[in-house]
Amino acid sequence: MNFQLTEEQIAVRDAAREFAKVELLEGVIERDTEARFPTEQVKLMGDLGFMGMMVDPKYDGGGMDTISYVLAMEEISKIDASASVCMSVNNSLVCWGLEKYGSEDQKQKYLKPLARGEKIGAFCLSEPEAGSDATSQKTTAELDGDHYILNGTKNWITNGSTASIYLVIAQTDPAKKHKGISAFIVEKGMEGFTIGKKEDKLGIRGSDTHSLMFSDVRVPVENRIGEEGLGFKFAMETLNGGRIGIAAQALGIASGAYELALGYAKERKTFGKPISQHQAIQFKLADMATEIEAARLLCLKAAHLKDMGEDYSYASAMAKLYASKVAMAVTVEAVQVHGGYGYVKEYHVERLMRDAKITQIYEGTSEIQKIVISRKLLS
Ligand code: CAA
Ligand code: FAD
Repeated sequence: MNFQLTEEQIAVRDAAREFAKVELLEGVIERDTEARFPTEQVKLMGDLGFMGMMVDPKYDGGGMDTISYVLAMEEISKIDASASVCMSVNNSLVCWGLEKYGSEDQKQKYLKPLARGEKIGAFCLSEPEAGSDATSQKTTAELDGDHYILNGTKNWITNGSTASIYLVIAQTDPAKKHKGISAFIVEKGMEGFTIGKKEDKLGIRGSDTHSLMFSDVRVPVENRIGEEGLGFKFAMETLNGGRIGIAAQALGIASGAYELALGYAKERKTFGKPISQHQAIQFKLADMATEIEAARLLCLKAAHLKDMGEDYSYASAMAKLYASKVAMAVTVEAVQVHGGYGYVKEYHVERLMRDAKITQIYEGTSEIQKIVISRKLLS
């Protein structure tokens, strides 16, 4: 693994950093307070190529490597984790799965507009009774001539109302358990498909999280992704890459909070000197910087393995487990460094602390990452 970034990777990182500062920072507090989706900002992210970064240029993507994606995710998450989760889902859960397993027709019809950021995608695995226990899918898809009839409910779907292309996991043959699960492309507006209420959340409040209901939705057979029975493998392999995106999101939340704490510590004076001159604050900053660097290396290692075509499931689980823990610890300390000012919205760190928590829950909780890691260790 080369620790030196290429010129292209540095250019992507700098472009994302600039975009976040110029376009995302303004209004981020209001969007959080009002739980408002960053519509205009996400459109700009599409125009700048951040929504289909790793997709082959022949499908209108950026053709970039996963390291560039991690760098961009970190920069965007420093400022607005609601925008970055939209980006992460579109890139690594929706575009990746379609490019890897979709038919040529599906790529032409669905992947291209997703990679250009003209359309937004959603990934629909979780259900009211199937979160961590993802094999317990209750949503069914029954074959009826040249269509499947979908019935069921999906929960907690990111980009739930913004998306227009939904990758939906459903049971096609319950007797085969997880080997009888399949994946489908469902379009917004298909009859019987309704979007449920928006969740009122602790953090990433600008992200639109919804339940989705499917009642006798007729989905053409050509919208099945891969063979019948591929769905669980499709979901798990997609999540291996998705977890790199969420690890990078956690890293960005942590490094954003750290940068704010560092700046504040140099400015704020108590007992006649900047608080950065008190050893207790210096040690906090030293711990934060060290933990962030370790999290960054795990993210880059997982991305590097993916780019090399090697197994990265274990590395991505480790990166997500560790970076999300660091995001929680660092954001709590960043609030502490700010004292009372850290507790109010104006200084941003309280939002980052609230945003950090979700990184330990979605795309597999920390407990699930430990299951993935320990199974690999013991295999
Ligand atoms: N990569 C590839 N294959 C995997 C895998 C991985 N990481 N994890 C499991 N599998 C495969 C297994 O090899 C097995 O395949 P075979 O039967 O062909 O050998 C199959 O999946 C079933 O695996 P298990 O027997 O281990 O099943 P299990 O029920 O004991 O545990 C689990 C599976 C790892 C816990 C899985 O259910 C899981 O990952 N749960 C978490 C679900 C999750 O991450 N949801 C995220 C939803 S999307 C989201 O959250 C997006 C967002 O917020 C923005
Ligand atoms: P549960 O599975 O009920 O877990 C409850 C607790 O028990 C957790 O602490 C868990 O770690 C623990 N636990 C469960 N099983 C075990 C075990 N075997 N061993 C040890 N501990 C265990 N899903 C999607 O499909 N698409 C999305 O776009 C999406 N976006 C989301 C956005 C938000 C804001 C949220 C909150 C969730 C989102 N999810 C999405 C769902 C998310 O992936 C699930 O919430 C998550 O996988 C956990 O499932 P659960 O909520 O049902 O918790």
